[in-house]
Order: sequence, then structure tokens, then C-alpha cells
Amino acid sequence: MSSSQKIPWDDRYKIGIETIDYQHKRLFELVNKLYDLEDSKSTKEELRVILYEFKDYMLIHFQEEEEYMLSIKYTELEEHKLLHKDIIDSLAQIVQTPAKLSILKSKMRVVAKRVLVDHIMHEDTKIKIFELEEDDDTFFDITDL
Ligand SMILES: [Fe+2]
Repeated sequence: MSSSQKIPWDDRYKIGIETIDYQHKRLFELVNKLYDLEDSKSTKEELRVILYEFKDYMLIHFQEEEEYMLSIKYTELEEHKLLHKDIIDSLAQIVQTPAKLSILKSKMRVVAKRVLVDHIMHEDTKIKIFELEEDDDTFFDITDL
């Protein structure tokens, strides 16, 4: 059954920044709509709507995440922006290449896992860690002593 291919949200993916966590969760919901489509019955239009909704929300999300990083003067902003660009490029390539629904589903699983799980767990968590270190008054640099 196709719905078993869904990529489930897990609270472990929360990075601790409310707006970003909300948007990440929404991205999981959007991509998972794809796995509700039945291979034999769905139309090209249904598919198009889902893929573009996901891609458009991803663009909005990346833009807001980048604004957030800028607001806290995140030192790895430029590197992080490149990762976002790379994700958008691979997503655009999938959306623009005609393919059977079953193929699209597996391609999107690969991107979604890379974006929604690996990127959040390995890159977005660094934003929160940076923020905590910057805010931490109890953090002493003993080289000052
Ligand atoms: Fe990110």
C-alpha cells in the first residue's frame, strides 16, 4: 500500500525554534500527500498540485530560515544557504522531469529524507546550538582569566 511509504514526523526532529519546527512539520505533511495518491487512479493535475505545493512551501521555509539565521548572526549562514540551494535544485529537477507516479514517489522519498530528516538533524540543529551558546551567560571563556 502506497501510504506505508510515508515519511513520518517524529518529535525528535524538533530543533527547539518554534516557527522553524512548525514549518518542518508542515513540510512532512505536504510531501506525505504524495503517498495518498493511488498509482492507477491519480491524475497529472493532482500530482502537479502536490509537488508544487511542497516545492513552494520549501522555498518560503528556506527563506524564513535564512532570515532567522541572519537575525541571530549565524556564522555559517552562507554555507547553509548553499545547502538550501542544492536541495531546491534537485527538487526542481524532479518536478520538471516527466515520470511515472511510482518513480516520482521513490525519487521524492530520497529528496524528502535528505531534506526533512538528514538536513534537519545535521544542519538545522546547529542553528539552535549556536543560539544557545551565544545566549549562555554562564559560558565562561577561561582564556580571559
Ligand atoms: Fe536549513
